[in-house]
Amino acid sequence: MADFTSPFWSWFIILPVILGLIGVVWLALANTGKRKDGAPETMGHIWDEDLQEYNNPLPLWWLYMLYLSVAFSVIYLVLYPGLGTFGGVLGWQQTTQYDQEVEQANAALSPLYDQYLSSELPALTGNDEAMRTGARLFSTYCTTCHGSDARGAPGFPNLRDTDWLYGGEPATIKASILNGRNGVMPPWDKTLGSDGVLAVAEYVRSLSGKFGDPNIISAGETQFKMLCVSCHGDAGQGNPQLGAPNLTDEVWLYGGSQQQIMASVGQGRQGKMPPHKEFLGEAKAHLLAAYVYSLSVDKTKSTP
Ligand code: HEC
Ligand code: HEC
Repeated sequence: MADFTSPFWSWFIILPVILGLIGVVWLALANTGKRKDGAPETMGHIWDEDLQEYNNPLPLWWLYMLYLSVAFSVIYLVLYPGLGTFGGVLGWQQTTQYDQEVEQANAALSPLYDQYLSSELPALTGNDEAMRTGARLFSTYCTTCHGSDARGAPGFPNLRDTDWLYGGEPATIKASILNGRNGVMPPWDKTLGSDGVLAVAEYVRSLSGKFGDPNIISAGETQFKMLCVSCHGDAGQGNPQLGAPNLTDEVWLYGGSQQQIMASVGQGRQGKMPPHKEFLGEAKAHLLAAYVYSLSVDKTKSTP
C-alpha cells in the first residue's frame, strides 16, 4: 500500500473513485425527475413505421439497487483499504490476515508434527498419512529444483535413486535438508590447459567403460592421480564427506558426454543446496527426510 513513490498515485486512485461514485448518483438523480404534463415523451426514433422509443423514467427497483450498491461501496471504502494509501478504519490488511491464518494452521498442526518428530525416520516411512504430508511438502518446497518426480535435472541430484552425493542414510538426508550442501569442484582449465582437460576427461570417461585413445587416457590418468584423487578417491569412487561424486557409475550430476565432463573439469562446479532449517523448522525437515528416504527405498512409490 504505502509503496507508492509519490502521493500523486494515491490521489490518482482516490479522485476517480470518489468522482465516479458522485457521477453515478448524479446521473441517476438527473434522470428520475417527474415529467410535468404526464404525457409520454418520445425520443423521436421510429422503427417499422409505428414502433416508437419512449423516454420513460428508470424503474424504481433498479434505481434502489444502484443506490444500495453505491452505499455499499462508500461503507466498504471507509472500513477497508481501497482509496489510495488510506488503510480503512478497521485497519484490516491481507498480510496480517495471512499471518494469522498461518499461525492458526501451525498451532493446529504442531502436535501432529511433534508426534512425527518423535518417531524414528525409518519407522516414519511406514506411516502412510505422514508420507502423504511429506509428498505435499516436497511438492511445495523442493520440486523447483529436484523436479516434480524428484528425479532431478542437470546440476540437481536425483533423489529417487540409490546414488548419493553425501550419503543416503536417513540422518544424512536430514542433515542435507537442514543445513544445506555446497559442492565445491574447483576449475582446472588454468592448471591443465585445454589438452590436459580433454585428457583427464577421457580418463574419467574410461572409468565408466567408455573407449578412447589409450595415449590420451594414460596421460589423463597421470593428471587424475595427482590432482583429483584427494576428493574423488583413488579409483574415482567419490567421497560423500565432500559430496564428490562417484565418477565410475555412469550416474552424472552434470552430464557424461565428453563435452559436459570437460566443462565440469575445466570450469568447475558449485552445486548449492540451500539450508532449510530456519525456513521449514526441524519437524517439517524431519518429515521430508523420511519422505526422501522412502523414495530411494521403495521403488514402487508413486510420484508426489
Ligand atoms: C534452490 C534449489 C534447491 C532446492 C529448493 C532444494 N534443493 Fe536439494 N539440492 C540442490 C542441489 C543443487 C543439491 C546438490 C548440492 C551439491 O551439488 O553438492 C541438492 C542436494 C540435496 C540432497 C543431497 C542429495 C545427495 O545426493 O546426497 C538432498 C537429500 C536434498 N537436496 C533434498 C532436498 C529437499 C527435501 C528439498 C526441499 C525441502 C530440497 N532439496 C530443496 C538444490 C535444491
Ligand atoms: C576439492 C575437491 C575436488 C577436487 C580436487 C576435484 N573435484 Fe571433481 N568434484 C568435486 C565435487 C564436490 C563435485 C560435485 C560438485 C557439485 O556438487 O556441484 C565434483 C564434480 C566433478 C565432476 C562432475 C560429475 C558429475 O556427476 O557430473 C567431474 C567430472 C569431476 N568432478 C572431475 C574431477 C576431475 C577430473 C578432477 C581433477 C582434475 C576433480 N574433479 C577434482 C570435488 C573435487
